[in-house]
Amino acid sequence: MTDKSLAELAVEVLTTADGRDKTAISRRNAALWFDSRKAGTPLPIGQATPPDRPARPAQPELLDPRDVPRRRPGSPQGRIAMLHAVAHIELNAVDLHWDIVARFKDTEMPLGFYDDWVKSADEESRHFNMICDSLKAKDSFYGALPAHAGMWRAAEDTANDLMGRLAVVPMVLEARGLDVTPGMIKVFENAKDTQTIEALNVIYAEEVGHVAYGSKWFNFLCGRHALDPKAEFHALVRRYFHGPLKPPFNEEKRADAGLPPDFYWPLSDETPPAYAR
Ligand SMILES: [Fe+2]
Ligand SMILES: [Fe+2]
Repeated sequence: MTDKSLAELAVEVLTTADGRDKTAISRRNAALWFDSRKAGTPLPIGQATPPDRPARPAQPELLDPRDVPRRRPGSPQGRIAMLHAVAHIELNAVDLHWDIVARFKDTEMPLGFYDDWVKSADEESRHFNMICDSLKAKDSFYGALPAHAGMWRAAEDTANDLMGRLAVVPMVLEARGLDVTPGMIKVFENAKDTQTIEALNVIYAEEVGHVAYGSKWFNFLCGRHALDPKAEFHALVRRYFHGPLKPPFNEEKRADAGLPPDFYWPLSDETPPAYAR
């Protein structure tokens, strides 16, 4: 049990720097929330101010994406670099999901909204831990290589706009994960790396849910404000996301997650197929 509010539990995660500590607190706090829900006595959502930027470990060094060295994906070093980048994305995702829980307290949302993002944060925490285990099996660790700075940019840009946050984070960035994960799984299948293949398959399956939560609550808010979801999505992505979306798109998994082709295709730099205009 805890006498803390959900917002306070979220800020506790966001202000923890070490990756393994952050994910351990994230998983514990998610369990506290769901225990309270099962008991029929949900913790109050409460008020707590999330930091502008979440606490992060001293390593990895954060570099401009152009300065992060590229390695050949077919080599062992290339696979470590790929996993390192995934770990960085997962840790960022832990913070993103707790941030959405604590930041938009002026917008009243059903408890199901909090359930979805706390569950997502719990899953991202497992993803980070699994990828770190896989790095460890290769005598590496999260922090051994530099990582992209600017991953928090989407959060900062949408810090005052819940619909913008939903459009850009789950419906653009996490949907992108659905596009690229099958190719990564192939890389590790070629290397016969069972541990990593299993981890990536869990990630691939669970990320569909995160994108689906994004579209669910985006549509919910469009309904509340009598907005056309497609037009609103296009407007918000153009306002907050810098650059075009990159095909090829995983149309099947995006459909599973409630993202129709005419949402994302018109935001790409290629001519949409006739069915997606
Ligand atoms: Fe994830
Ligand atoms: Fe995710």
